[in-house]
Amino acid sequence: MSVLRLQDPFTKYVFVDKDPNCIAGLSGRIGTLPYSPDVSLILGDVNESVGKIRSAMPPFDSKRRLLSFCFVDPFAANLKFSTLAELARAYRMDFMILLALGVDALRNFRQYYLDRADSRIADLIDCPEWRNEYDKSAERSVVRFLLARFDEAMKRLGYRSAQPKHHHPVKIQGRGAMQYILVLYSKHRLGQKFWESTLAGSDPQLGLF
Ligand SMILES: C[S@@+](CC[C@H](N)C(=O)[O-])C[C@H]1O[C@@H](n2cnc3c(N)ncnc32)[C@H](O)[C@@H]1O
Repeated sequence: MSVLRLQDPFTKYVFVDKDPNCIAGLSGRIGTLPYSPDVSLILGDVNESVGKIRSAMPPFDSKRRLLSFCFVDPFAANLKFSTLAELARAYRMDFMILLALGVDALRNFRQYYLDRADSRIADLIDCPEWRNEYDKSAERSVVRFLLARFDEAMKRLGYRSAQPKHHHPVKIQGRGAMQYILVLYSKHRLGQKFWESTLAGSDPQLGLF
């Protein structure tokens, strides 16, 4: 809802959620606003919704170029890199991504590693051979390994590399256990500069308990 109350709003908002209750709740809240933003609500798994997202996006051409920003905020590491890639190829799009590395990838790492049929990590970091690569890697930290592979995948799409200083880890207050990492990917230096100023002005903890 906060993004709908910006002083300088976006021209169009597209929300995707696979939970019908969340879509209904959001729709109800949007209906209470004293103005009518241009919004499309898409019910479905985002990894299967790129076609619908593209249909909902405003038209653009070489004269009327489109700048877009995508916030990816899942509960788990169930984002497919191919979804980001499809959007990144279609639009000049910056991404703010919540990487659920602590709450999911690290906590369930043993299961994902041992179950050869499980493709969650491979899909997230665009690396089908990730188990072999992790075995060969000198990096034993699962989180740092996944961040580095995710970064390489984003660089292949033309995004600027996100260094550790661009990661905003969110931990359980007082216990130090990392929950997730927020990171911004932009192809433009200015996008990364905005993110650096945002991080410089943000509280290192968001007060999660
Ligand atoms: C952390 S909440 C999002 C909160 C929201 N950004 C906000 O500020 O209120 C995560 C949401 O992602 C949705 N979700 C998780 N995986 C999804 C997927 N693969 N496709 C679509 N929605 C998904 C869940 O149903 C849930 O509503």
